Amino acid sequence: MRVVAPALSELDPIERAGRDEIAALQLQRLRWSLQHAYDNVPHYRQAFDTKGVHPSDLRRLEDLALFPFTSKQDLRANYPFGMFAVPRDQVRRVHASSGTTGKPTVVGYTRQDIEHWAQLVARSMRAAGTRPGDLVHVAYGYGLFTGGLGAHYGAEKLGCTVIPMSGGQTEKQLQLIQDFKPRVIMVTPSYMQVLIEEFTRNGLDARESSLEIGIFGAEPWTEAMRADIESTGGLKAVDIYGLSEVMGPGVASECVETQDGPVVWEDHFYPEIIDPDTGAVLPDGCEGELVFTSLTKEAMPVIRYRTRDLTRLLPPTARPFRRIGKIVGRSDDMLIVRGVNLFPTQIEEIILQHGKLSGQYEIHVSREGLLDTLVIRCELQSHLGALSAEEISAMSAWVTHRVKTMIGVSAYVEVLAANVLQRTLVGKARRVFDRRQA
Ligand code: DLL
Repeated sequence: MRVVAPALSELDPIERAGRDEIAALQLQRLRWSLQHAYDNVPHYRQAFDTKGVHPSDLRRLEDLALFPFTSKQDLRANYPFGMFAVPRDQVRRVHASSGTTGKPTVVGYTRQDIEHWAQLVARSMRAAGTRPGDLVHVAYGYGLFTGGLGAHYGAEKLGCTVIPMSGGQTEKQLQLIQDFKPRVIMVTPSYMQVLIEEFTRNGLDARESSLEIGIFGAEPWTEAMRADIESTGGLKAVDIYGLSEVMGPGVASECVETQDGPVVWEDHFYPEIIDPDTGAVLPDGCEGELVFTSLTKEAMPVIRYRTRDLTRLLPPTARPFRRIGKIVGRSDDMLIVRGVNLFPTQIEEIILQHGKLSGQYEIHVSREGLLDTLVIRCELQSHLGALSAEEISAMSAWVTHRVKTMIGVSAYVEVLAANVLQRTLVGKARRVFDRRQA
C-alpha cells in the first residue's frame, strides 16, 4: 500500500475552512478561555489584575499580547492542582512531565479535554496517512508521560487497532512488529533508530518490514535524521509535536503530502512567536520562542504558555492552519561554548551529512581552566566493518572542519566503532553532557 493523503471529504470541516472563519472561531474561543481562566484559577486572576488587564480587553486576536505570560515556574508554584479551573472531581485524568529538577509539572483533563485530545491525535494520524483499520504500534512510553496514552486514544478514535507496546524491551518490539505486521509506528525518532539497528542485528532489513508510516516526536530531530530514517527504515517519517502543559502529542502535526513542518491545530491552540529576551510578539516567519494559549481546555487552560521551544510560524500549505518549522532546540538546551551558541540539532545535521556515520552522537562539554572544551562522540554505521586509522582520522577531521565552519567553534571529534554509544531505550534521547556546572 502506498501512503496517500486523506481525501478532502475525510477532513474535519474546520480543516477546510477559510482563514476568516478560523479567526472568528479563535476570537470567540479565546474570549471564553481567558474568562474561564480568570474566573476559576486564582493564579490567572492575580496575574491579570497585576498587569491591569481583564478578559473583556480582548477585542481582536492581537490584543492577546496585553496578557501576561505563563511559565513552567508558575505551574510548579501551584503544584500539584493549583492551576486547575474545575473542581478536582471533574478531572478525569492527570499526567505529569518529569522535570530534570524539582517537582514535576502536573496537568489535568476533563472528559471533554480527553475527547478533544483524542480527536486531535486522530486528526494528526490521518494527516500522516494513517487510515481507519490500520494496525498501529505505539512505542511511546505509557504512564505519566503523555506520549503513550495520547497516541493510544487517538489511534482508537481514528478506528485503528492499537498495539500498546510502550517503550523499552527492544527485542520484544521487533518480535511484535515481525509477527503483528503494523503499518504505523508511533515512537521517538531516536528510538526508531534503535529499532532499525535491531533489525540489522538480527540479520533483517527494516525496509522489508510492514511499517509504512512513522509518526515521530517528543524530541528535536532534523531533516537529516528524517532522510536517514526514511532510507534505512523504508517508511514515511512524519513529525508530531506537543507538550504536556498544552495537551500532549498532537498540538501540531505534519501532513504526509507536504512534510513541511507540523500544522498547528489552530482551532484549539493559538500560537505566537516571541522574542525570548523582551517578550515582544514577532511577525510570522521570524525565529523565536513558541507560545501557546489553549482555546478549549477546561481542566487546565494555559494562557500564553512559554514553551521554551525555538522555531518559526510558517504560512498554511496543506491545511488552512499555520505551521511551525522544525524545532531548532529548546532555549534551555542551547549550549554556549566559548561564547558560541550551539544546539545539538546542528551537530546532528552535520554528522548525518557525512554518510558513513550513524545518527547516534554525544556532546560533552567541560571546562579546563578558563576554557570550555567541546568533545563530539559519534560512531560508524554498523555495516561498514572496521576502517583503517587513516580513514577514521579523515572522518574526524571532516566533522571538525564542518563544525568549525558551520557553527564557528572548535571541537574534538571522536569517531567510535559501531554500536558503542549508549542508546536511550525509554524516553527522550540524552545527547548533551555538560560538566561545567559540576
Ligand atoms: O513530549 C509530548 C509528545 C509525545 C509529543 C509524543 C510528541 C510525541 P513533554 O514530555 O512535555 O511532552 O515534552 C515537550 O518535547 O516542549 C519540545 O521541546 C519537545 N518536543 C515534543 N515534540 C517535538 C517535536 C511530549 N516533534 C517538549 N520536535 C516540547 C521537537 C519536540 N521537539
